[in-house]
Amino acid sequence: MAPIDPHSFTDSTHPLTTHISLSLYFDFSTSTIAASALLTLRHPHSGDLVIDTRSLTITSVIDPITNTQLPFHLSPNVDHVKGQPLTVSLTNSSKILITFITSPSSSALQWLTPPQTFNKKYPFVYTQCQAIHARSIFPCQDTPTSRVRYNAKLNIPHQLSAVMSARHVERRAPLAGGDSGYACDESLWCAEGRVVEEFVMEQPIPPYLFAFAVGEIGCREVGPRTKVFAEAVPTVLDAAAKEFAGTEDMIRAGEKLFGEYDWERFDLLVLPPSFPYGGMENPRMVFLTPTVIKGDASGAQVVAHELAHSWTGNLITNKTNDHFWLNEGFTTYAERRIVEAVQGEDIAALNIGIGWKGLVDTMERFKDNMEFTKLLTNQEGVDPDDVYSEVPYEKGFQFLWRIERQIGRAAFDEFLKKYIAAFKFQSIDTQMFLDFLKANVPGIENDIDLKTWTEGTGLPPDAMEPVSNIYTKIVSLAHEFKQGRMPSEEEVASWHGQEWELYLENLPKSVEASQVTSLDRRYRLSESKDYEVKVAFLQLAIWSRCSEYYNVVEKTLKEVGRMKYLRPLYTSLVQGSAGKEEEKIFAQRVFAEARETYHPIAQGVVESILSKHL
Ligand code: BES
Ligand code: ZN
Repeated sequence: MAPIDPHSFTDSTHPLTTHISLSLYFDFSTSTIAASALLTLRHPHSGDLVIDTRSLTITSVIDPITNTQLPFHLSPNVDHVKGQPLTVSLTNSSKILITFITSPSSSALQWLTPPQTFNKKYPFVYTQCQAIHARSIFPCQDTPTSRVRYNAKLNIPHQLSAVMSARHVERRAPLAGGDSGYACDESLWCAEGRVVEEFVMEQPIPPYLFAFAVGEIGCREVGPRTKVFAEAVPTVLDAAAKEFAGTEDMIRAGEKLFGEYDWERFDLLVLPPSFPYGGMENPRMVFLTPTVIKGDASGAQVVAHELAHSWTGNLITNKTNDHFWLNEGFTTYAERRIVEAVQGEDIAALNIGIGWKGLVDTMERFKDNMEFTKLLTNQEGVDPDDVYSEVPYEKGFQFLWRIERQIGRAAFDEFLKKYIAAFKFQSIDTQMFLDFLKANVPGIENDIDLKTWTEGTGLPPDAMEPVSNIYTKIVSLAHEFKQGRMPSEEEVASWHGQEWELYLENLPKSVEASQVTSLDRRYRLSESKDYEVKVAFLQLAIWSRCSEYYNVVEKTLKEVGRMKYLRPLYTSLVQGSAGKEEEKIFAQRVFAEARETYHPIAQGVVESILSKHL
């Protein structure tokens, strides 16, 4: 008996699941799903089998072959990171049918009432399973070591439709006689006004890539393998279609660099503003925050990132979250290569520069807890949502960029293609990557200190700040701000969101409140439609105690739930002790009022920020 993942109860001596068949009955009146999951194991097993769950009520466990009840035990002890193990006792079985009901507080699900949607007519529900939330929707071995195929039947009200990160099979009437898979009473399953949407996922995926959304959803075609989906609001769909018109070019750029696109479709789903991330790489259908639609085609960076995961993350997956950098570091590198191919070197350099600044600041923030400045981490007892940072992204990027500099771009490109082909549809760890690197680039360990890069804390000496005209110019302008020099209209004439973001992030933390106000008077940053710019500015305003902007801060915290914005705003409000009482009370009040509008994952993250500082 040994765990194979610090975030899962899955045991090394137990067979892994290869297939899951789900029947889900959505009950919007109680924000719950009555469901069943039929798990198929790699081989028959006798004895205990331990499965991850979180806030699920288990109603029965059956061997569907013999149609007998299987003894089971749901641990009453709740591990605050892993949830509750479900132990089922098997006698030479390879199939287990579990019936269960989800909780309204399921950490993966956000249930929106009609008033919380754009059209205000129908409810909406969507998932976010990464890192370890799939277990709050269905019992599973919730570790990325495991890869499963699945099919799913979603029983929903007929006014709504469902989308999934899987192939859509059909929308049809519910059938009597077994269609419900024991998820609920047949009278409910077949009730008037219900429809079934069926999906199948033929490629094996780690559980964190399971995803669906149900609501009043519409779509527009934007490319030969891409539709964009969103709440059925013509203005939103039109804006999204315009923003993502260049998607096919990016897919082609990705294929040229990393090999064939293996997932058939690359659809996009634009979620309500409470979506807690910028993007989530759900296969066949990426989930996106609506804040990426800015009207200037800059949402392309987030799409490039999630697209890049199609190769790095979804084809080759980190074995556990300790190796998360294999997902995000490779993807950040791949994202920038795609951006460079479609938008040019300058924009790519700007992104590298924004990333560099973020990395340097993050290293500073973690100086009392250096464990999480490592690429390879030890997350035993740690909630991955609590230690989410730019380190795996940007230090991972720096490591790969360092290797590219060492061997040259042509050789590195060839290596990447080979790496992807060698490990596709597998889950791997840092050592497997390093072994492959050393085998394919003989002598690399003599030129690069691989151990320091992967196991060391902080920034290795051979990490590199990017050099490019535009990057260097903006950073030096930012440094001149302290002496009271503001950039001229002429200097900023060609700036877009990313240039402003880089500028604002490089400004000194403590500037005079009057300087902040005059910067805004001139360039209207607090009114920017680009949340990256707006939030970077508001953070500066909070640091300088410019309370005249607190109403904008409040409005922002109440209109978006993307954690990239919530984290810095709440943190800068409550961090530090001397004389910040007013800000702390303000942060608590705003959170109390906004809380219900956030996804459960974001609620948890903001709670932990506030509790650390109050
Ligand atoms: N996979 C991540 C999002 C994620 C990470 C969800 C960890 C849950 C746990 C996604 O690919 C991502 O990195 N999104 C970024 C996009 C950005 C780097 C362009 C985001 O949301 O900001
Ligand atoms: Zn990512």
